[in-house]
Amino acid sequence: MPPIDLNVVLAALSLLLFLAFVGFFAFLVFHQSSIEPREPTGAELIEQHYAPGETIEQPTPYYVAPIPAAPDPLEISANLDKKIILGAGMLFAIFALVGAYFLANPTIRARGAEDQQQRSIMRGRNLYANFCFDCHGKTGLGSTDPERKDLPGLPLNKPQFKYENIKNDPAALKTTQDLIQRTIERGRAKPAPLISMPAWGQADGGALNDEQITQLVTFIMYGTDQDWADVVTVRQQSGLPTEPNPPKPQQLTPVQLGQQLFTSNPQTPCVTCHSADPNKPSPLANAPNLGHYGTEGPLNAENKAKKAAGDADWLLHWIQNPPAVKPGVVMPPFGTAAGGQLSDDQIRAITEYLMSLK
Ligand code: HEC
Ligand code: HEC
Repeated sequence: MPPIDLNVVLAALSLLLFLAFVGFFAFLVFHQSSIEPREPTGAELIEQHYAPGETIEQPTPYYVAPIPAAPDPLEISANLDKKIILGAGMLFAIFALVGAYFLANPTIRARGAEDQQQRSIMRGRNLYANFCFDCHGKTGLGSTDPERKDLPGLPLNKPQFKYENIKNDPAALKTTQDLIQRTIERGRAKPAPLISMPAWGQADGGALNDEQITQLVTFIMYGTDQDWADVVTVRQQSGLPTEPNPPKPQQLTPVQLGQQLFTSNPQTPCVTCHSADPNKPSPLANAPNLGHYGTEGPLNAENKAKKAAGDADWLLHWIQNPPAVKPGVVMPPFGTAAGGQLSDDQIRAITEYLMSLK
């Protein structure tokens, strides 16, 4: 049951009291006039000699009406007092109600703001169910969802994002709110094989207006576990699939894979010694900058000789086991046959990448 709205209660009370007030005065006018002494009619003389209700036998052809009870002037005035007191009481009650309204007003306003926020959370939840579900998951756990390790989105339903946990730290509150809002508005582009967070703000070509984005932020920061659990229900009610279906990661081209292995591989990233940016020196002074290797390689005499001798795989062989080509070189063997950790396929991908650097 929704909480009773104080506004409605006060309004209903005022209305009831108003109707009672009007009814009371109508009754007062009617009743008062019915007990008011009548205008003298001449029958008063007879009434003095006969009891009320008696009829008078007399030798006239006229029928004489029963004698009415005389109104008791005391009774009239006593009742009038009561009525006046009752009326005044009602008047005061109306003032009291107006006063109560002003006293209760802050509470009423707070309730209003709360209702507004509840509506915002609900709308944000519905937007989430429609637009974010596939990447961020059923309950907003994203890539940390134990049931769906394949989700590309980051967790949104997490303690660091919740208003309750950061409300006492205004700086953190602002940073968090800005991070969530900006990320939704502008998205976050990720390099090739990874899936990007799309931009949703209309200024960035997205489909959501400012209010909708605010509703999403409100949902993320103020939503309860129940609100998150309701996401699947919303999907069900809209006839949408209840399992997230994230976009498939792009298949990496050999060059992209090679680039990845060059910057991070399980053995030693090549970038610990080499730069592949023509404008940046290599971290290790005597490791050549490979920024133009596609046109400049091979570099050392040994590799040049192998290439000249017709070895098409001279670069593969070099990366597999440099000391075997040039004894004493500090570049370690990477091929598994020479004790390294990269497969031939991986090394071939690296050679493709290096030869693409023109
Ligand atoms: C196509 C998949 C996809 C969809 C759809 C998507 N996101 Fe994302 N979202 C991502 C990815 C991927 C990231 C992580 C980017 C990164 O690694 O920095 C992300 C990150 C975020 C972040 C930043 C989290 C953080 O900790 O920095 C927020 C906030 C966010 N998404 C909200 C949303 C909302 C709200 C929606 C729905 C309107 C949505 N996302 C829809 C993929 C998606
Ligand atoms: C410990 C530092 C180090 C690491 C790690 C390293 N290299 Fe080297 N690399 C060198 C040095 C030093 C040379 C220069 C060898 C020489 O004297 O000719 C070199 C030379 C090269 C050359 C030029 C060969 C030629 O003469 O044409 C290539 C290509 C190369 N490295 C690729 C790589 C790749 C790919 C990786 C990662 C899989 C890598 N290196 C990792 C130190 C390193």
